[in-house]
Amino acid sequence: SGVMMWGGHFDSAPSDLMQEINASIDFDKRLYAQDIAGSRAHARMLGAQGILSDEDVQAIDGGLDQVLAEIEGGDFPFSRALEDIHMNVEARLTELIGDAGKRLHTGRSRNDQVATDFRLWLRDMLDRFDIQLRDLQAALIERAEQHAETVMPGFTHLQTAQPVTLGHHFLAYVEMFGRDRGRMTDARRRLNESPLGSAALAGTSFPIDRHMTATALGFDRPMANSLDGVSARDFALEFLGAATICATHLSRIAEELVIWSSAPFRFVRMSDAYTTGSSIMPQKRNPDAAELVRAKVGRIMGAQVTLMTVMKGLPLAYSKDMQEDKEPTFDAVDALSLAVQATTGMIRDLTVNPDAMRAQAAGGYSTATDLADWLVRSAGLPFREAHHLTGRVVRAAEQRGLRLDELTAEDLAAVDARIGAEAMAVLTVDASVRSRTSYGGTAPEGVRARAADARERFL
Ligand code: ARG
Repeated sequence: SGVMMWGGHFDSAPSDLMQEINASIDFDKRLYAQDIAGSRAHARMLGAQGILSDEDVQAIDGGLDQVLAEIEGGDFPFSRALEDIHMNVEARLTELIGDAGKRLHTGRSRNDQVATDFRLWLRDMLDRFDIQLRDLQAALIERAEQHAETVMPGFTHLQTAQPVTLGHHFLAYVEMFGRDRGRMTDARRRLNESPLGSAALAGTSFPIDRHMTATALGFDRPMANSLDGVSARDFALEFLGAATICATHLSRIAEELVIWSSAPFRFVRMSDAYTTGSSIMPQKRNPDAAELVRAKVGRIMGAQVTLMTVMKGLPLAYSKDMQEDKEPTFDAVDALSLAVQATTGMIRDLTVNPDAMRAQAAGGYSTATDLADWLVRSAGLPFREAHHLTGRVVRAAEQRGLRLDELTAEDLAAVDARIGAEAMAVLTVDASVRSRTSYGGTAPEGVRARAADARERFL
């Protein structure tokens, strides 16, 4: 209560509603390990600077060990009246070790404390995402190598465009997740400065050593400005931005899994582990995990919008508004982590149906561009003219209900005498993908080479 916590000029306890709107312990208890690590670093620094006695520092160290053990053992008396994780830890510490506990808060404020805890926590999460995204890339690269020659229809506008290989398609996502990892690495670099010692907002008159606490907590350096130290949340916004972009990549691959596993496509079969049945339709095999991955971008982007909106227009330095930073960030971290791991599982488990992919790739006149290219190369036509002529070939095939590779040499010559019998060779899907040898293109040899590069670059 107010009387208990602030003593002094408070006469009565806060209302129940005040406690309900104000207390953050129900969610910020998640920062307990970082809070304790921050307190330990702070106490040791106070000792080294002669601000606290060695006995006090030892008592604090031992007491924090016990607090940590109690929290991890599940028998810590969390109290909403104590508002947040910082006051809960400190109050319990003081209960355990007496006056030394009351000296811990010398030269520090909850404002720099919470900023420190949150950065430390998010740093761990960024490191975890780097590993999880790497696992996802490993799964995709492995499947890409298995399917370097598996022909599938490539789409634009979700209309059959040109044949590609499934391996090539998987490697496209490897690149996206590589950039997601890069964004998180960049965010981590900027995040990794210590706010500790900014105190409430202005710094402190105690002779603290901010470089020492920064080093102890694995930060690269102390933040250079105490007002910025307690006011900045762009480290969380930056993570949420990277998370939102990553979630859009996940949603795209998830959407493709939904389409590919549908009955009209049957390109892939999702494993039992990531599908559900229907309570009424016995034949169903619903791609629930993929659908949920597709949806998670909503709450992750929502978190980003939430925190942007909270931070916009806030005057320096700390305002309680900023307590609203944690729930959306926690939620986004949890959602993204699940989505990445579920996607990795789905990709690893996927059963591919190469026959269905090949059959679809050959339909839709997907090698029309190959014929046009052939006319340019072998008959010396300008591309626009070749394009037009090929359009007439497509129409001839269409009228007779045939695929392009089912047309005979006579059929082709009937459209235009310049289309020789050799042109037939370019109309198969295999010839088409084999010919796409430009760097980064879909030819199986190129896919194998890029998969090998990707192993070097990412794994
Ligand atoms: N629970 C608070 C938060 O999460 C900690 C900082 C409180 N500081 C303060 N001056 N009330 O932001």
